[in-house]
Amino acid sequence: MIEQIQKLIEEVRTLQAKNAEEVEQLRIKYLSKKGEVNALMNDFRNVPNEMKREVGMRINELKTLAQDKINELRDAVQVAETAGDDLDLTRTPYPIRLGTRHPLTIVKNEIVDIFSRLGFTLAEGPEVEDDWHVYSSMNFADDHPARDMQDTFFVEAHPDIILRSHTSSVQARVMERQQPPIRVICPGRVYRNEAISARAHCFFHQVEGLYVDKNVSFADLKQVLLLFAQEMFGPDTKIRLRPSYFPFTEPSAEMDVSCTICGGKGCSLCKGAGWLEILGCGMVDPAVLEANGIDSTVYTGYAFGMGIERIANLKYQVKDLRMFSENDVRFLQEFTSAN
Ligand code: DAH
Repeated sequence: MIEQIQKLIEEVRTLQAKNAEEVEQLRIKYLSKKGEVNALMNDFRNVPNEMKREVGMRINELKTLAQDKINELRDAVQVAETAGDDLDLTRTPYPIRLGTRHPLTIVKNEIVDIFSRLGFTLAEGPEVEDDWHVYSSMNFADDHPARDMQDTFFVEAHPDIILRSHTSSVQARVMERQQPPIRVICPGRVYRNEAISARAHCFFHQVEGLYVDKNVSFADLKQVLLLFAQEMFGPDTKIRLRPSYFPFTEPSAEMDVSCTICGGKGCSLCKGAGWLEILGCGMVDPAVLEANGIDSTVYTGYAFGMGIERIANLKYQVKDLRMFSENDVRFLQEFTSAN
């Protein structure tokens, strides 16, 4: 029997395995219930007493050796299997792709930044609004067409609750909680019930500005807007104001900037006009100040509002508005910003 054990010990010492499955076969052969070691244990009771000590020691030796050897083989095949042929730990790593800011965020930050430097602070309001803040307090007549279902999204069962169709509602939110001086810049998303196309979307983004204090004049408005245009589109940019109408401003104007491509000579972007319309503005209508709890005999103010998509389009010439909301990373990666 000693000889038999010795033979098994030699055998175990030279065991080899190529994969986990072969290791398992060896474990079964030597260490399982029906394996060699157990068979020897079963024969142990037939060993004459005087031999028991030595045989016992040899069986134990075989068992420990088999266990160690099989563990060793298992570790070896595991390393080989995880390493694979294509793992090269010395290779330089792939560059990590950093995300980029959304172009609308870049432009919004730029607009807010310019006005911050002029003393405007950030104000925000809810996208789900009531009629008062979006329309009534902004001096829209009860039968104004903008209130129409074709333009406004209503929250079903609550005819008074709507998705704001412009950020002018934030003007009301600010004025109702704060007395002048007020100087705020209000970026945000707005909603209109429009068919989606390359030129229109059911949601887009605006920035609203409001300045109310004693002796605020149209000249102040014009100067601030000129400064903004030159910061945004370059120092040679010119502006022009055309008379217009908004319920919440009197007088009202629309502002054009000299074409960002041709500088005013006329090209396909400005359709030969040399000018591009970028925002609406005016002196806050006294009725709006009064509706929001501000004494219009003491204070005057100006306001303006612009579309962020519109400004982004002039900067980047994005032909299809839908690109801004489709989240195609190939499109988004074309834009990088410093902040
Ligand atoms: N609320 C206007 C719109 O959505 C934009 C606007 C025009 C805002 C004139 C103003 C303003 O504050 O004075 O078309």
